[in-house]
Parts: sequence; structure tokens; C-alpha cells
Amino acid sequence: MYEIGRAEIDAVAKVIRSRKLMRDFGGQGTWCERFEAALAQKLGVRYALTTCSGTTALIAALVGLGIGPGDEVIVPAYTFMATALAPLAVGAIPIIAEVNETLMIDPADVERKVTRYTRAIIPVDMIGRACDMSAILRTARRHRLYVVEDACQAVGGSYRGRRLGAIGHAGAYSFNYYKNISCGEGGAVLTQRRDVYERALIYHDGALTLYTSAQRPRETIFAGGKVRFSEVHGAIMFQQLKRLDRILNRLRARQAAMREILSKAKGFRLNPSNEIEGDCGSSLPLLFETPRQALAFMAAHAKHLGMIRPYDTGKHVYTRWEPVLNKRGGHHPMLNPYRYARRKISYSKDMCRASLDILARTVTLTVPYRATVAEARASARKLLG
Ligand SMILES: Cc1ncc(COP(=O)(O)O)c(C=O)c1O
Repeated sequence: MYEIGRAEIDAVAKVIRSRKLMRDFGGQGTWCERFEAALAQKLGVRYALTTCSGTTALIAALVGLGIGPGDEVIVPAYTFMATALAPLAVGAIPIIAEVNETLMIDPADVERKVTRYTRAIIPVDMIGRACDMSAILRTARRHRLYVVEDACQAVGGSYRGRRLGAIGHAGAYSFNYYKNISCGEGGAVLTQRRDVYERALIYHDGALTLYTSAQRPRETIFAGGKVRFSEVHGAIMFQQLKRLDRILNRLRARQAAMREILSKAKGFRLNPSNEIEGDCGSSLPLLFETPRQALAFMAAHAKHLGMIRPYDTGKHVYTRWEPVLNKRGGHHPMLNPYRYARRKISYSKDMCRASLDILARTVTLTVPYRATVAEARASARKLLG
């Protein structure tokens, strides 16, 4: 959470005074509708649909594309576990691909992991940075796969002039507390396609309980969950969205100042980026020759700035995705997607060694949002000593 204040408090007060806390789909200009329209316009997509989390946004996107049992979905070895749980939630199987030094999914390994059962790729824009979307889209076109962008950590970021989350067949944003703009918990599905939007809509509203028959979508109604946004969240996000550009500009200015200094360092180099201009600027990863050097750097400098090795970030590394590694993909044996796999699926903790090596040699710095640019520069200088 970077910024929140009077605008959000006033908007929530209005919602409470109106006593209309639940969203209504009547085209009445509710806060949720206003936020969705503003978000879609900002990102350049035709449809944005709010959900209660980034996880459910990913699931709704996969539902929207009709992914299901027997399908394989390629996800990166470095991402929050939710990216791998989303395919399981729709009955599909996550296949884990390596990340490269950019910390994003390695397009070459994606190509190697494609089988005749692959239906989709989920590139994940980790720590505010862009995936190599050109390469991913090329692979997707070659094999007729869907691309679902997990831009949960990169709200507002961009790649070659297009916003992350708005490039593939569908995208997902998270608005949880740690994201660029936030209402505590929340998410959004983004897509250009009406059919995907309508199917996500049906899923997210328990088979469209709130819709009147006049608003029925063209897509056939099926059973769904209930993962709607509330008006309180819609009101907060409507205000948060207005803050997004300022937040990104501030982060980017501080990150650029730090990059300028740290790019000249001797003991490490900056991890390569697929496009630094579109980077949200929230983090700055440094790549060392060995894990030992990375650990020594942290021991010496953790007092100057927030920093962590991606290797140590809990459920962000595939080796700690227990339900996946143990192939427990559902709460009931008959709902376990692995039961419906069309080939033998094996996972092991050392299956993505290249990723583990890179993640253990990388230290990501937290860009100090509240510091001045001069202070950010001074913090970076201290890391050179
Ligand atoms: C890359 C990534 N994907 C998905 C999610 C899930 O988002 P949420 O926590 O809103 O469900 C997160 C959340 O941290 C994330 O970082």
C-alpha cells in the first residue's frame, strides 16, 4: 500500500451513507462499474471485471477461456503459488518452466515444455517487471495456445507501449495490500474478448445471481463460484486508480537513480530486464556470481534498504508449492486434476535447477517509495561499500 487517504475515506463514507454496500449489475453507475470502466480505459482493454482477489481473477480468466480437465498450463518456477493453483482450480495441470536471469519465465523452456495437451501459458510479471511477451506470444501462436498474463505484481506496468495484463488473451491484477494500488484484497480480470468476459462474469457471480433476464449474456450459463467485489472495495479502487500514475512515476524515479549508481558496481550486476521503461519500479534485482556472495551482501547491507533473496520468499518458489509437488490438486480425490492427466506428470524439487541457481544468486532491493530521490541515491551508494 503506497498511498491512501481522504479521497478513499470520503468515497467509502458515501457508500456507507447510501446503504448500498453490495454491487448491483443494473448499469446504475455503481462504484464497481465506474472502477471497471476506468480501469479498462486506462489499460486499453474492452473488458475489466473486478473479483475478490488476484487468485480468483486468474481462475476466472482460465474459466473464461474454457481451460479444464486434461489441459496443461505452463507456469514459471518463480511466482506466488496462486499462479500454479489457478489451473488446478479449473481442473487443469500446472507445468513448471524455468525462469531466466530476468527472473521471468524463460521462453526457451516454455517451448520445451509444450506438449500436445498444453492449452495455455501464464507468464508472470514478477516484482513489477515485464515478461518477454514477444517471445511468449510467438510460442503461443505457433502452438495455438492461450496466454493469460499474471500481472498481479505489476499493476500499471507496460511492455512495448502496452499495459501488462492487457496483452494476452486475458490478464489478472491483484489489489491485495502489497500491490501498487490496493483495497486490502481484490483483483480484476482483463480481456479484449466478450466471450471470455461473459464466462468470467458467470463464474464470478455464482451463475449470474445478480443479473436480470434482460441482461443475460450470450454465453451459456453454468455453475460458478461467488467472488464478487463489494461497493466498498469498488469505491476505494476508483480512487486508488487515480493515484496509479503518480505512484509509478515516483517509484520509477527512485529506481532509476539507484540503477544509475548500482550499474557501476563491481561485485554484482543488475539483472537483465525485458523492458526497463515499463518496469513499475517497485524493486531492483541484483545478480551475484554465487549464492554465498549474495548472502554476504545481505549480511553487510540489510540495514540500509529492504532486501530479500527471491530464493527465500516462501511460496514464491516452486519447491515450496506443496499441494502441487504432492499432486494434491483438490479437496476430494474425484476432483483432483491429476487424476485426469493425459500423460504421467512428475515433479521434483530439483526439476528447475537453473531457476534455483538464479534465485539464490539474486538479491532484490525494495525501492524506498517514501524517500526522496536524493535519499534513494544515497542508499544505493552505501551498497557499494
Ligand atoms: C504473481 C502473483 N500472482 C497471483 C497472486 C494472487 O493475488 P491475491 O493475493 O490477490 O489472490 C499474487 C499475490 O500476491 C501474486 O503475487
